This record gives sequence, C-alpha cells and structure tokens, in this order.
Amino acid sequence: MPSNSQIDLTSIGFKKNYLYEILATTFSMDRNLIVPNTASMGVRLVEKKSMKIWPYPNTKTYKNIESSKFVVVNLINDVYLFALASLKGSNLSKHHGVLSEKEYNYYNLNLNNTYKDFAKRIITAESINLPYLKQSWAIIVCIATNINHVFREDDFGKFKLMEIDLTVICCQKFRESFKLYNRAENLALETVVLTTKLNLAILKKEEAFIKKIKTKIDENISAIKRFGKNLSALKVIEHIQEYIKGLET
Ligand SMILES: Cc1cc2nc3c(=O)[nH]c(=O)nc-3n(C[C@H](O)[C@H](O)[C@H](O)COP(=O)(O)O)c2cc1C
Repeated sequence: MPSNSQIDLTSIGFKKNYLYEILATTFSMDRNLIVPNTASMGVRLVEKKSMKIWPYPNTKTYKNIESSKFVVVNLINDVYLFALASLKGSNLSKHHGVLSEKEYNYYNLNLNNTYKDFAKRIITAESINLPYLKQSWAIIVCIATNINHVFREDDFGKFKLMEIDLTVICCQKFRESFKLYNRAENLALETVVLTTKLNLAILKKEEAFIKKIKTKIDENISAIKRFGKNLSALKVIEHIQEYIKGLET
C-alpha cells in the first residue's frame, strides 16, 4: 500500500477539476459486521489528495458516510455494474438484483496513528477491512472530513445535495485500464441516469416529465440496440426495463 505522501491519482488518469463517474462503496455496521453498499456517484478531484462527492441526503451512501466516514471509490469498466448500483429495489428479480456480498473483496487498511483516533468510534482494532468491488481495476480509499449542504437546480426545481470533502488515504491499482466507453456504453450510462430521474418524476407524479423521460429512454434503448452487440450495454437495457416495470406495478 503506498503511503500517503506517495499518492498520485494522476497515475490512474485522474485530472484536477474533472468529474468522474465512479461506484462508491460505503458501509454500515450490523452489530460487529460490516454491511457494504455501493452506488453510482460522481466525484471531482479538487487537490492532489482531496476529492468531493455529492450524494442526495436520502441515499444510503450519504447515511453510511455520515455514520462511518469511510468511502472506497471503485474504478470500474463495466457499465452494467453502474446500472446495478443505481437502479435498486426489492421488485427486481434475483437475476437483476443489487450487488451481492460475493461481489466484494476486502482491503486491509492499517489504522496507524493518523487514522486511529478518527476510526476508534467505529472500530477498536489495529486495522479495518474495507469492502470494495472485485471488478475494480483500481480503488481510492478516502475518509469524509467535512459535510455541507448545497442547493442545485434541474428540471424538477431546486433540490438539496450533500457536499462531502474526501481526504484520500491511499490508492491501489490492481491492473491497467485504458478502457474508453464506446457509444453504446456511454448511452447506456446516460440512460441509467435518466431512469433515476424517471423514478423521481414518478414519485412526484410529474406526468408531463414522466412522458418526456420515457420517450427519451425508449429512443436511447433503440439506439443502443442499433449500435450492435455490446453485451454490457444490452444487459444495462434489460436491467432498466425490468426496473421500470417494477416502478409501474
Ligand atoms: C452515472 C451516475 C452518476 C450518479 N451520480 C450521483 C451523485 O453524484 N449523487 C447521487 O446522490 N446520486 C447519483 N446517482 C444516482 C444514485 O446512484 C442512485 O440514486 C442510487 O440508487 C443511490 O443508492 P444508495 O441509496 O444505495 O446510495 C448517479 C447515477 C448514475 C448512473
């Protein structure tokens, strides 16, 4: 594990002020057991060792960060995992369910003096096993140091986001990745974001907006199918369709 002073996120392609779509693994505690949770989130590298993340206050990710502070940023090539980590729900079949326990490995983080005081209310041991996704090509281990709320505006009006400062503790690259998403995968990712908005529109009973988003989702799905056989993107479509069916029943 590289020490703090050796952390160089540019070695995994991160550039200052860019926004990256990642999967954030956080955890809650059930008695002494760590219960991992992963969600698609955007992060921005602000300084060499600091990032920001903006979860909605009602997300499990935010609640976990508030209570346990650790965040593992997973860098992932497979867009299907973004769909699984965004569109969740008990109405999805097992096949399309959320990320299960077997998708995780555990990264042993030595709680040296710097983090011991910080971590002692969560864990009293010398080290902690932080969950991360096995499919990550690299992970960035962070702790939340500051939480503020900010207001943003979109088609639904003004809404609150939690703006969280993350201090990078270490970064581990498991393998090289030069992957660039192709058109089908990019569109699949965008369609997952649209589907999370559809969920919100349905909750708010915004009929005109529901119709508009559904039309866009259908157009995107047709385009992804037209682009050809991209297995990940096609699995994303299947997941989206099953998720939407669940929203409507
Ligand atoms: C590419 C992408 C980026 C996303 N970025 C965010 C984000 O920055 N903040 C947020 O609250 N939700 C974001 N979402 C939506 C969450 O992933 C989604 O609401 C998820 O169900 C939250 O899960 P949780 O409650 O387990 O934290 C994003 C979704 C996608 C597909």
